[in-house]
Amino acid sequence: MSERARRSGWLDVPAASYDAHMSDASVGQAQLLSAEFADALYRMQPKSVAVLGAATGNGFEHLVERAADRVVAVDINPEYLAILAERFGAALPGLQTAVVDVMDPGSLAGGFDLIWAALIFEYVDPPTLVANCAGWLNPGGVLAALLQQPTRHPTKVSASPWQKDLAAIEPELSLVELDAFAEWTADAGLRAEAGAHMVEVNGKGFFIGDFRRTG
Ligand SMILES: C[S@@+](CC[C@H](N)C(=O)[O-])C[C@H]1O[C@@H](n2cnc3c(N)ncnc32)[C@H](O)[C@@H]1O
Repeated sequence: MSERARRSGWLDVPAASYDAHMSDASVGQAQLLSAEFADALYRMQPKSVAVLGAATGNGFEHLVERAADRVVAVDINPEYLAILAERFGAALPGLQTAVVDVMDPGSLAGGFDLIWAALIFEYVDPPTLVANCAGWLNPGGVLAALLQQPTRHPTKVSASPWQKDLAAIEPELSLVELDAFAEWTADAGLRAEAGAHMVEVNGKGFFIGDFRRTG
């Protein structure tokens, strides 16, 4: 395991606290991410999907009965992916889990029609991950990215009864500027598609956009 993996604050966040925090009514981000993942699957109808920062499988129910032959759930936290496999292994015969650091370009075999990356660019070096995603996509494949955006909300991690259990990740969270993201994706040969949009939930703003590999 890489230095980054050993140091990641995500290894200190218990799965139960993370899930409870994200789906708490005061946060509501699990519901948002699940709905946006469903939309991305509907738009792309992918045969092969990688979910980066899959955690415990939020939204994976939308993959059931879809025609994807290959679904790879990717996360740095082995506890999260063990729970995901337990929840969805039987319903998704093509499911693979990969406990890896997405900063490593060799961590995934590639060949994806869709890479769904929701709230992970905030915890890594974003241009490196953009370049890695470009390499993992099939020609014509799409990186669908969901990025937290600045708001007047006082804290980067939302307040909830479980917030203290997420303390380890707050210093690692850096919001991604959309202008910079547009440059990194263009440099990596990913073309911004029409339909990018913003949504707001409980005072926090999120950008969702598709970036297609053209070459
Ligand atoms: C905010 S959560 C993602 C939310 C998730 N997509 C959902 O719908 O609930 C960020 C996830 O990225 C994972 N992660 C953070 N850094 C990573 C890295 N370098 N490589 C792989 N996974 C990473 C964390 O363990 C965590 O599960």
